[in-house]
Amino acid sequence: MHSKAVVVISRWQPEAWAQELRALMPGCDIRLFPELGDPTDIAYALVWRPPAGLLRSLPNLRAVFSLGAGVDHIFCDPAPPDVPIVRMVDPDMSMRMREHVVLHVLLHHRQLLDYRALQRASRWHELLQPAASAVNVGIMGLGELGLDCARTLSLLGFNVAGWSRTRKEVAGITSFAGEIERDAFLGRTDILVCLLPLTEETRGILNRAVFERLRRDGPLGGAVLINAGRGELQVEADILAALDRGALNAASLDVFETEPLPQDSPFWRHPRVVVTPHVAAVSDALALTRAIADQIEAFEAGKPLRNVVDPKRGY
Ligand SMILES: NC(=O)c1ccc[n+]([C@@H]2O[C@H](COP(=O)([O-])OP(=O)(O)OC[C@H]3O[C@@H](n4cnc5c(N)ncnc54)[C@H](OP(=O)(O)O)[C@@H]3O)[C@@H](O)[C@H]2O)c1
Repeated sequence: MHSKAVVVISRWQPEAWAQELRALMPGCDIRLFPELGDPTDIAYALVWRPPAGLLRSLPNLRAVFSLGAGVDHIFCDPAPPDVPIVRMVDPDMSMRMREHVVLHVLLHHRQLLDYRALQRASRWHELLQPAASAVNVGIMGLGELGLDCARTLSLLGFNVAGWSRTRKEVAGITSFAGEIERDAFLGRTDILVCLLPLTEETRGILNRAVFERLRRDGPLGGAVLINAGRGELQVEADILAALDRGALNAASLDVFETEPLPQDSPFWRHPRVVVTPHVAAVSDALALTRAIADQIEAFEAGKPLRNVVDPKRGY
């Protein structure tokens, strides 16, 4: 295996990934895009937003590793590679996403936006404090990350339900599945957390029809949206309209239709919106390269790859 080359294709910290891989796979030829060398040498690619067509042009490629949990940045290529695509599933990634989701659920549950406004007005004023057990959190996408967040929020005392393509059997978490149960899921939800992958089926799913169905008479005085999935899942004009009309009371958005978020976006200054720059769960090279190096070694020894995505489903 050590005669084979591994290429890192990323516009985002490529050196850090290459450096870690060189330390973990000392006999391996680690190359950094665009310095591909002889493309026939390349057996593995670690990628984030690879240029369209590039992976297909590597004739001896054996597998592709996504540097993130999502693979939409690979499948947006009109000719994606015809080899197994492995996505990132790792305790470090789950830990970071869990922190982000719990932080924002608690921020809205404990009415931090209202307290910040009161602080700016130098007003000492106590708001009603609903119990977590009176608040229904609904997680769209009950996969690796969504399920982990669901379990943690349930431990904190929230009523947690999840919505996914297929039903889950998880103690303490109500599972809704498929289109047919989506409205029932939305109708009981006070805080909607989106951790769906971006696919042709989910693009634009966070839209007016969804916001209109969320519970409005819950203890927080209106529904809240937390999107930490992908920006293209949301219709931003519909979020702004829902905030105006009261279908949404507040939102925490980590991802956007256009990133970086344009300077003239109303989200920057909206008093009911918390903006973060796509940092809910960053992929940490130090933590994640070990898992990739181990997978390559096992695959070379004839073992199957784990966390391979289904190209038909797109996630
Ligand atoms: N903002 C950030 O920093 C950041 C960081 C990491 C990840 N992410 C995003 O988080 C996403 C989720 O990651 P993950 O590891 O949890 O993915 P995952 O394990 O593949 O889980 C995806 C979940 O979504 C459900 N789903 C997919 N398509 C659906 C549909 N059409 N209708 C209903 N449910 C559907 C799946 O249902 P089944 O269980 O039935 O298959 C599954 O429960 C990633 O794709 C990525 O875009 C964002």
